[in-house]
Amino acid sequence: MNGRDLVRSVKAVGSVGSVQGLRTVRAAWRRRRADAGGLPRRGAERARVPGVVRDAEPGPGGGVVLFDRSELRVLVTVQGAVFWGWDGAGPEPSYALAGRCPEPDPRAVLEPDKDGGWRVVAERFTVAVSRHGAVELRTPGGVPLRRDAPPRWWEPVDGGPGRWMQRSQVAPDARFFGLGGRAAGPRLRDGTYRLWNTDPGGSFAPGDDPLYITMPVQMVVADAGTHLVFHDSSWDGTVTLREGEEGAGSGHDRAGRSEVRMDGGPLRCWAVVGSPARALLGWASLTGAPALPPAWALGHHHARWGFGTEREVRRVVAGYREHGLPLDAVHLDIDHFDAHQVFTVDRERFPDLPRLAAELRRDGIRLVSIVDPAVRAAAGNAVYDSGSDLDAFVRDAAGRVVEGVVWPGESVYPDFTHPRVRKWWGGLYAERLAQGFAGFWHDMNEPTSFTAFGESTLPRSARHCLDGRDGDHREAHNVYALCMARAAYEGLRELAPQERPFCFSRAGWAGMQRYGGTWSGDVSTGWPGLRASLALVLGMGLSGVPYSGPDVGGFDGSPSPELFLRWFQMAAYLPLFRTHSSLEAGRREPWEFGPEVLRHARGALLERRRLLPYFVTLAHLARRTGAPYVRPLWWHTPEDRALRDCDDAFLLGDCLLVAPVLAPGTERRAVRLPRGRWYDTVTGLPHDGPGRVLVDAPVERIPVFARAGAVLAVRGADGGPELEAWAPARGRTGGGLVVADAGDGWDEPEIERYVTRWEGPRVVVERHGEDGVHEPSLPVRLRGADQAGDQT
Ligand code: GLC
Repeated sequence: MNGRDLVRSVKAVGSVGSVQGLRTVRAAWRRRRADAGGLPRRGAERARVPGVVRDAEPGPGGGVVLFDRSELRVLVTVQGAVFWGWDGAGPEPSYALAGRCPEPDPRAVLEPDKDGGWRVVAERFTVAVSRHGAVELRTPGGVPLRRDAPPRWWEPVDGGPGRWMQRSQVAPDARFFGLGGRAAGPRLRDGTYRLWNTDPGGSFAPGDDPLYITMPVQMVVADAGTHLVFHDSSWDGTVTLREGEEGAGSGHDRAGRSEVRMDGGPLRCWAVVGSPARALLGWASLTGAPALPPAWALGHHHARWGFGTEREVRRVVAGYREHGLPLDAVHLDIDHFDAHQVFTVDRERFPDLPRLAAELRRDGIRLVSIVDPAVRAAAGNAVYDSGSDLDAFVRDAAGRVVEGVVWPGESVYPDFTHPRVRKWWGGLYAERLAQGFAGFWHDMNEPTSFTAFGESTLPRSARHCLDGRDGDHREAHNVYALCMARAAYEGLRELAPQERPFCFSRAGWAGMQRYGGTWSGDVSTGWPGLRASLALVLGMGLSGVPYSGPDVGGFDGSPSPELFLRWFQMAAYLPLFRTHSSLEAGRREPWEFGPEVLRHARGALLERRRLLPYFVTLAHLARRTGAPYVRPLWWHTPEDRALRDCDDAFLLGDCLLVAPVLAPGTERRAVRLPRGRWYDTVTGLPHDGPGRVLVDAPVERIPVFARAGAVLAVRGADGGPELEAWAPARGRTGGGLVVADAGDGWDEPEIERYVTRWEGPRVVVERHGEDGVHEPSLPVRLRGADQAGDQT
């Protein structure tokens, strides 16, 4: 037990007092004992490198290069992604891939390269393999994007899975992003980032790492090009990043470095090369299109741990109505469960949930339920009983069901890596639908078990089915929540086939976007927490998960009115816009912070509602292209180095740029604008990028800019849809996409493409279809035309 463990242990026993504290001590010992007996001891190891190239066998899309002590398979797929895997590793099986591995690109062939190496030339890149097993990814023009040194393995002398390490170099100007989103991002500075989904136990701030979601996905942005790499192993590991440096003309540039170390699993990697948009398109075609949320999920959600009773829910909803605040969803936390048991209801405090749900539904408000994976281990608990009958719960190496501790006390954990267990679990959502819930919020699924010391999860030796491959928690841990999300998503598709499942999950892994989104988890209340929550949304988007958002106001404590308002204003432009807080935290209803905050929060809510058709469009575009709603400023201009370092503003789709206020006492703030003309959406004043501008950020709003020429769908004053079009700069054109949607269901709406251009003294807005140019199908409100000639 180290010092931190000791503090945690004293806290656990002391604070929860009581029974739960003692349980966490017992669970910690149980976990330690299970691992002492159930895990192979780490004995003597033998190090290995590939050795020298011997031969190669060309095959479809690439081939296999044979070395003294390993072999490397290279495969270029039809969509233009490239896979390379050592020691015979192929792309499958994989929890990240959406389906089977894509088809090989027949045009890509393995051919001899200089100095005894081999290479595969593809349309968008070349992969060169040196005679000692270095793998270099180059642009078609031959500029290196990434160079992997020959990998290194350490294997137990007496057999079993080995560890490995892969060092890579990137350009001196390259910046790293992704890794599942990190609290100190989105730009990932020098440091070691762990790959092990972790409940930080209490609220977190920038720098706390790892958090609930970790993914071995790096998006690397450099002058030479953008590439995304994914090391497809779910084992515990680390990624150490070191940004490069340019020697200011001295010629002594230092490359950027990445070092990936994994405790096991195949050493295999995917890469996609191109613009940022192209990289995420490639990623989505490999790992799956992001789930499309129903339109209501793009509105405002109010959650609270500790609503306590139906009456309190009604009181809060009435408050929203009375204060003229739009509300689309209310989330019920574990306090509505009977003794914290998942898939139950405390009938005393929530006597008639279906009625409450129906009442809210009449006002256009949906109910969302928390769902925790851990099941209270008590005979008579129906979920425990049916799960036990099915042998659904994770067992240890000795065959005993593993017990951990979560909110309901001693609990057991479904093995979501088993198809039968997923099917059973998916069916349990029928009970939730019958209670009137329309959406699901997966929590504690790292998975977490409260512990007095050691890791707050299952024993590493715990056994998992791994879809028939059979393995232990070392491999299953990081994909546990992903498989839980799959169970829910597939269950809901069967139970309510006409509706889009709405699920979001605290933990997850590469590919989780197929089943839904995520949220920031327990972000701490404070200005640093506000920053961390933006970093996470941006980082998740660059890791392929477009739908997320923070607990507005922070999870714990009581935000100052100013902090609450600034958080609220920022979140109004994030995909998941949800106020949530802990049991002991202060109030989060906008009217609890005085009339001024109430007025401005109302402004933010009404603006969100006005932008709803734009959010719906962004949801469709995310599904079709993998592009996140919320994008870093460098999205269209990754060559603008100053933007790569900019973490205090973001693009919302192609049309808007949002510059939140992230510090107290701000009345004005600097905003770094990408290339092109940008209008301040309130003053209408144009600003020309690239460059920095100083703009007003009064308490009533945060600065938002519209790209010149942009067209976006919004809700008009009468509630009907209209187009907001911004004049292009003189002599330029612009445009935008609009996807109108029924709000739910599976119809494939058409994508409407609009173009803006100057015709003499006026701006025209046209709809361009396959069959020619048309009048817009919606009324147009033109902005900026009177200012378009001016410069700032
Ligand atoms: C976890 C969740 C939080 C939730 C709480 C109680 O801390 O992250 O959102 O309110 O559990 O269920």
